[in-house]
Amino acid sequence: MFFDRLSRLLNDAFRPKPKYITVTPVSSAGPAQMLPPSKLPRHVAIIMDGNGRWAQSRGMPRSAGHAAGTEALRDIIRASDDWGIEALSLYAFSTENWSRSKEEVGALMGLLLKYFNSEIDELDAKHVKITILGDVDGMPEPQREALRNAMVRTKDNAGLKLNIAVNYGGRAELVRAAKALAAQVKDGALEPEAIDEAAFEGQLYTAGLPDVDLLIRTSGELRTSNFLPWQLVYAEMVFDDCFWPDFDRTRYLKCLRAYAERDRRFGGRNEPAEAAPAKPTQPSETET
Ligand code: FPP
Repeated sequence: MFFDRLSRLLNDAFRPKPKYITVTPVSSAGPAQMLPPSKLPRHVAIIMDGNGRWAQSRGMPRSAGHAAGTEALRDIIRASDDWGIEALSLYAFSTENWSRSKEEVGALMGLLLKYFNSEIDELDAKHVKITILGDVDGMPEPQREALRNAMVRTKDNAGLKLNIAVNYGGRAELVRAAKALAAQVKDGALEPEAIDEAAFEGQLYTAGLPDVDLLIRTSGELRTSNFLPWQLVYAEMVFDDCFWPDFDRTRYLKCLRAYAERDRRFGGRNEPAEAAPAKPTQPSETET
């Protein structure tokens, strides 16, 4: 066990990093596109929206849209791993999604279970580390077990950090963090004055991960919908009009390109040296 873990760590540490990510467009005969890894976001979050409309526009049940969406998700996870993205967070099921019809919730629960059972071997072999963001205890038993197994089995992996938000609500995550800190204060383990942003971040499902650099949402909706409110504060946002089942590597790369062209200032100013404001000059004695 120990040697197995050690060999994985060494493998990951010495895995050659690609100089460029290269993608051949799926649907056109255009040239392969390249992007230097230094321009890649460390953490990508995706709101996979539009499964229902994709299905309805084809006269199919909504569950067929979710099944097609799962295929898209499979390839976007592989692409993120191939391209050396550090962390990928996917919004799979929100706390609000329980209010959908019994059939739709049942279909989503079935897909979750099927996905984890069928993909876990490949993900683990690729050293993907799976973290579930959300209230796993509130899930039905078979799903709870599959999600827990996936987390336990991959916890020491050093590859892509794959976060899947299930039974997740952003405000609920913040309340949970506040409660955890309050409990530490009550127990005398933490001084209220010691509560700072780092302490708060340490209580989130994403503790230890970099903030989200790029948020992608499909289907043309322009909202964040209670997804990662703390982690998104400085995220660049890219919206794609396609429904999620149509999202592919070519579209993903287009989003990464748009990100690479953004000027991120984090509230400061990125001024080229020559454009820096000149020091105020003292009025000369002859000036009036
Ligand atoms: C939003 O589309 C999508 C969801 C609520 C579920 C996303 C789930 C998957 C992509 C597949 C299952 C996940 C895993 C991890 C196997 P919508 O239904 O709100 O679409 P609409 O806005 O067109 O109605």
